[in-house]
Amino acid sequence: MTSPQPVIAVCGKGGVGKTAASALISRAMLDAGVRPLLLIDADPAGGLVSAMGERVENTLAGARARLVAAARGAGDAEKESLASQLDYLVLESLAERDGYSLLAMGRMEEKGCFCPANTLLREAIDLLVGPFAVVLIDAEAGLEQIARQVTRRVTRVVAVHDGSARSADTVGLILDMAPGLVSALGSRVDTPMGLDLPEGVEWLGAIPEDPELSRFDRERRSLWDLPAENPARLAAARIAERLLALG
Ligand SMILES: Nc1ncnc2c1ncn2[C@@H]1O[C@H](COP(=O)(O)OP(=O)(O)OP(=O)(O)O)[C@@H](O)[C@H]1O
Ligand SMILES: [Mg+2]
Repeated sequence: MTSPQPVIAVCGKGGVGKTAASALISRAMLDAGVRPLLLIDADPAGGLVSAMGERVENTLAGARARLVAAARGAGDAEKESLASQLDYLVLESLAERDGYSLLAMGRMEEKGCFCPANTLLREAIDLLVGPFAVVLIDAEAGLEQIARQVTRRVTRVVAVHDGSARSADTVGLILDMAPGLVSALGSRVDTPMGLDLPEGVEWLGAIPEDPELSRFDRERRSLWDLPAENPARLAAARIAERLLALG
């Protein structure tokens, strides 16, 4: 049996650098010829898609809203047949590009218990991963998506660590939830020294503080367009290599 492709979830506390890391790592993987990639922006507030300077027409949230509207007032049998349209709606939400596809979760109203938001994301991941060489998920801040097992297909959780005590605590909590799958990535720190990494968490490397990255973000320019010699981009390329070697 062949092993499943890497399904990588980039997690960590709010504002720690998940989206920037996801954007740079995915760019590096494409540059290394790894394709097709499935890139999932699982932040309801929007992350990876905008960091890449992209726009997507259809989000999972939009698909779900149409389904929920259709289910309103429907009987059980009709609801069941609507649920079977979910696959189609998920596929419709996938934006295909050259070498990669993008799936944006969008903001979902939790109203109505008919297909809860994170369940839908999980189903979508299950449905879609097949043909992709690597799947990379820019997760929302916090632990909700891990706790709800959105990440059940995930083979590696990249816990982003900015050197703060709270970031260290989050890495510890992530490890509790996904034992054996967690690697740490430094964001705006130089070394793993003094980071208080829990046992069993592998150090992938760090993306340094980078004023050019910060300026690109501020100016809403795609982080994919950072120059090839940009230090953050180069660091992400080494991290991508390590991730691919880990499988
Ligand atoms: N290596 C870096 N150097 C300089 N600025 C950075 C770096 N990484 C991230 N930033 C900046 O820090 C801010 C937060 O980064 P980012 O959006 O990647 O974090 P996040 O963890 O995805 O946040 P959220 O929890 O809101 O999704 C952004 O303004 C980004 O430009
Ligand atoms: Mg983000």
